[in-house]
Amino acid sequence: MKTAITEMFGIEHPIVQGGMHYVGFAELAAAVSNAGGLGIITGLTQRTPELVAKEIARCRDMTNKPFGVNLTFLPTFNAPPYAEYIAAIREGGIKIVETAGRSPEQYMPALKAAGIKVIHKCTSVRHSLKAEQIGCDAVSVDGFECGGHPGEDDMPNMILLPRAAEELKIPFVASGGMADARSLIAALAMGAAGMNMGTRFIATKEAPVHDNVKKAIVAASELDTRLVMRTLRNTERVLKNAGVERLLDIERERGSKLKIEDIHDEVAGVYPKVMIDGDMDAGAWSCGMVVGLIHDIPTVKELIDRIMMDAERIIRARLTGFLDAESKATRKVA
Ligand SMILES: Cc1cc2nc3c(=O)[nH]c(=O)nc-3n(C[C@H](O)[C@H](O)[C@H](O)COP(=O)(O)O)c2cc1C
Repeated sequence: MKTAITEMFGIEHPIVQGGMHYVGFAELAAAVSNAGGLGIITGLTQRTPELVAKEIARCRDMTNKPFGVNLTFLPTFNAPPYAEYIAAIREGGIKIVETAGRSPEQYMPALKAAGIKVIHKCTSVRHSLKAEQIGCDAVSVDGFECGGHPGEDDMPNMILLPRAAEELKIPFVASGGMADARSLIAALAMGAAGMNMGTRFIATKEAPVHDNVKKAIVAASELDTRLVMRTLRNTERVLKNAGVERLLDIERERGSKLKIEDIHDEVAGVYPKVMIDGDMDAGAWSCGMVVGLIHDIPTVKELIDRIMMDAERIIRARLTGFLDAESKATRKVA
C-alpha cells in the first residue's frame, strides 16, 4: 500500500509503532521495521544519551530498514538533556524522530539541520496545526481512546481524525484505538495516511516485556482502562489494577487538592516493575481501550501481514462489494 506516510518514511506498510516507555527497545523497533512498518525506539527509556546511541546501534544490527526514535518532552523541572539526546540520534544516523508531549519547537532547528523528519504526536487539531506551522513533517493524531496521555479535550478519533483532515496540509497517521485492518481502513477513510499503534504491539512475541503484561492485555476488555491524574491536567489512560485502584482512592480523597507527591508510589518507577518483573499490580502503566480488540500474541510479522491482507480483503470484497451490489440492483430495476 502506498500513502504519503509510506513515501515520507520509505516504508512498505502505513503502520507505525509509537514510542513506549520500557517497551520500545531495539527488539520491538527492529521487528516492526523488518515487517515493513516503522519501528520506534523510546529515547527516554534509555537513561543517558550514550545509552540511546547504544540502543540505536543494537537496532541497526537487527535491521537494515528505516526506524525512528521517540523523544517525549516532559513537563518536568529536571528536564533530560534533550540537546544531547538529539546529538546521539543525529550521530546514530537516525532520519525519523517521533516527538511527543510538549511542543518540539525549540528543537526543530537542530532536528531539521540533521535532515531528520519529525512526526509530532498531538491530541488536538490546534496542536496539530501548531506542529505543521513549526515545520513538523507529519503528525500522529492521538484520540481519547489512546493508551498514554490523551490530553484534556476528550476528543475521540471519529471526530478528531476528520477534523484533522479538514485543517492539516501535512500528512497524519491515526493513533489511539488502532488494532487491525478495520482500524487502518477506517483511519484511511477519515483522511489519515496510516495508523500508529501502541498497546497492540505490546501483545506480540517480540515485545521485550514480561509475559504477564501480554497475558493481561489479552485478558482485558475495553472496559478495563482507567483515567488517572485528571485533576493534575496530566491525564493518563492506564490498565486497571490494584495499584491504580489505590491511586484512584487517593485522588477521590484529595479531590482538587491532589498533588503529584500524594500518588508518588503509584506512578513513579512503575514501568520496570511491570514490564521487567511482571508485577501487574504495581501501579499506573499506559494502556489503551483497544485492549478489548486484542485476543492473541502473534509475531510482529504475523500481525502486520494479517492487517495488510485483511485490509485488501475489506477494500476489494466488502467495500467495493457494496458498490457492485448497488450497480447490480440498479441494472435489475432497469
Ligand atoms: C505502555 C505504553 C507506554 C507508552 N509510552 C510512551 C512514551 O514514552 N512516549 C510517547 O510519546 N508515547 C507513549 N505511549 C503512547 C503510544 O506511543 C501511542 O501513542 C499510544 O499507545 C496509541 O494508543 P493505543 O495504545 O490505543 O494504540 C505509550 C503507550 C503505552 C501503551
